[in-house]
Amino acid sequence: MQIVANFKMNLKLADYKQLLKLLKKEKEDTNLVLCPPFVYLPYFSKLNYYNLGAQDVSENKCGNSTGQVSAEMLKEFSVSYCIVGHSERRKFETNKQIAAKVMQCVQNGITPILCVGEKHKNSKDEDIIEDLLTAFKQIKSTEKVIVAYEPVWAVGSGEVPTNEYINKKVELIKNTLKSLKLKCPILYGGSVDENNISTLKNCKVDGFLIGGLSLKFEKLLGLRRLL
Ligand code: PGA
Repeated sequence: MQIVANFKMNLKLADYKQLLKLLKKEKEDTNLVLCPPFVYLPYFSKLNYYNLGAQDVSENKCGNSTGQVSAEMLKEFSVSYCIVGHSERRKFETNKQIAAKVMQCVQNGITPILCVGEKHKNSKDEDIIEDLLTAFKQIKSTEKVIVAYEPVWAVGSGEVPTNEYINKKVELIKNTLKSLKLKCPILYGGSVDENNISTLKNCKVDGFLIGGLSLKFEKLLGLRRLL
């Protein structure tokens, strides 16, 4: 099962150096994807026993986009995955921009991890369907993509849906992907921790997107042994 660690805008260089030290003692693990903030990517890019991911990418190829980072630049630092459309970013971007980001990733050999999920427990499924359809409209079935189902109400809240609830949404995501002739791994994200993982691992998912727990390095690395 895949574990994607989203460190968000947390920690500092000294902490990431500590993580790198810990990783050196670990066995090679291609199922682990680490997503530090952009500025720390170069520190991670020389090691090849895990995968490196970015937390966002520009929708533009290059040029006058002040403050943004292109997929081509990420590739130079061995980034092979990129979170796209995280709920903490969706308020700043449209579905059209998210689709362009997905495209930039695949054109540069980076696997996009597209985040989708309802805002509230009683939100309609239409939003998830619409988010998937627009983001993957131009994606061919041969391209590598990942979907992270992240109910917004569960992100960082400590509240986790039941396995039944997650499985229903995963089914909806799979059916929507099928209508686009796509099949891809699906992750669950939202308040995953070392206590609830033993229940969550029985969901019909291929891995987990971890936020808060990523900041506790030993627990993050230990999580893999609980799967
Ligand atoms: P959380 O974050 O694990 O802290 O809920 C998940 C995410 O934002 O991807």
